[in-house]
Amino acid sequence: MNILCAYNANIDSINHIDGQELSRMLEESTEFQDKFQEKLVNPPGSISSKSDFFAGLLLCMRDGTGAEWLIHDKEVFEWLKKTFLNDSLMRMGGNMGIMANVLSELGASKVVPNVASLSKLQASFFSQKAIFHPYDGKLYNSKEIGAILPANNNRPELIHFVFDFKKGDTVNFSGDIISVPRENRFIATYDLLNFQLHLNEHFRDYSMKNTAEMDGAIISGFHMLQEDEEGSEKNDYKLKLDTSLKQLQSWKEARKDLYIHVEFGHFSSGKIASYAFSILSPIVDRIGMNEDELAMLASINGMDPKPILAMDSVAIAESAIKLCSDFGLCRMLVHTREFALSVSCRTDDDPEKTINAMDFGAGCAAAFACSGKLTDRGELLTIASNIPKSEFGKAASSKLAKHIEEEWKCSNTCGIHMSYLVTIVPTRICDDPVSTVGLGDTISSAIFLRELELKS
Ligand code: GLC
Repeated sequence: MNILCAYNANIDSINHIDGQELSRMLEESTEFQDKFQEKLVNPPGSISSKSDFFAGLLLCMRDGTGAEWLIHDKEVFEWLKKTFLNDSLMRMGGNMGIMANVLSELGASKVVPNVASLSKLQASFFSQKAIFHPYDGKLYNSKEIGAILPANNNRPELIHFVFDFKKGDTVNFSGDIISVPRENRFIATYDLLNFQLHLNEHFRDYSMKNTAEMDGAIISGFHMLQEDEEGSEKNDYKLKLDTSLKQLQSWKEARKDLYIHVEFGHFSSGKIASYAFSILSPIVDRIGMNEDELAMLASINGMDPKPILAMDSVAIAESAIKLCSDFGLCRMLVHTREFALSVSCRTDDDPEKTINAMDFGAGCAAAFACSGKLTDRGELLTIASNIPKSEFGKAASSKLAKHIEEEWKCSNTCGIHMSYLVTIVPTRICDDPVSTVGLGDTISSAIFLRELELKS
């Protein structure tokens, strides 16, 4: 399979933050204690100071939620580098970067990524199996590209700080003890290029000339776009989205059956999320997202987000279908920690193929969570076979089976509901994940690849 991948790749600096260390840092940070309490009540949603950073991290740990907050002040970024970088694990980051590596490791034949800042360090994190970087009219694999890049390449290192935390950990803060209800992660991101949906010129030229030989495209990074400064009429994010849409349309013109999957991501702005969803829906083949992202879109569109956040399979299926039919999207894939659920307007699709692909994706993501590594698919699937299926996911699957209007006989729950073909599979749960970052990207891209294979 030949696959184009855009837009966001970066380097993740993964840190395991433990409660004791955070308690100590909070206690020592006397300079902002007064403003800090206020930020826990009214979260700023982005980072302009150290106290914003600590507020975001503590809120995620308190609620067991995941979030990504963008850093607006370079000094905070420098402080994070000084404080955390040395002891962290650096690896491929960015939804697109992670998905490109998954596709390459799992056996795609040619995976061509857009890389906003192709530094030697960034290049070193790409899979060496089937990733090819366009550069000055030629393609180079990940082993070769480092040597091709000029010595004074001078590209910025786009480092995102990921803080993983574990269920049951405790943080002492101002005399209160906060206990973490679920493992998750908080990401602090300073990234001037991916914020802009930056298109690498070498990728742009390559994709314009070679789309006809591609089977699919996997796209993400829209969630990093920012609202315009107050008072500005520029509508910068709209321009960026419209430009990207034209690019996707031109690819579809060059190859009508190019299968395009968009991975939605956690938007900091509901306005941008809505605009992105509305313009992408009629053009792309499928949009993937987790339950937090679905809940945000659903609540903007007048639906109740609570059962979605509680991972109620019926509420998730119905809100996904409603959004699809209102906005002209044919397929949506919702991946939660406990199950993956697909809704499709193509009721003559073979549901067993979707189930097979979703099972495959769930296995790959669980094996990646447990081992922290991507290896070839045989090995991943062997690791996965020893990881138990989610009990919650099995119950969610039975609940959906009872509610759908026309249940079909399938190896897992499937059938027709509100005129859409609905399928669900439980995920596999790794009790002690090496990291939780990128699991949504891993399941989505593995499903995408398996579906392309089953279609051909
Ligand atoms: C976002 C973050 C990136 C992380 C990815 C995981 O793209 O910016 O740092 O690797 O999410 O899904």
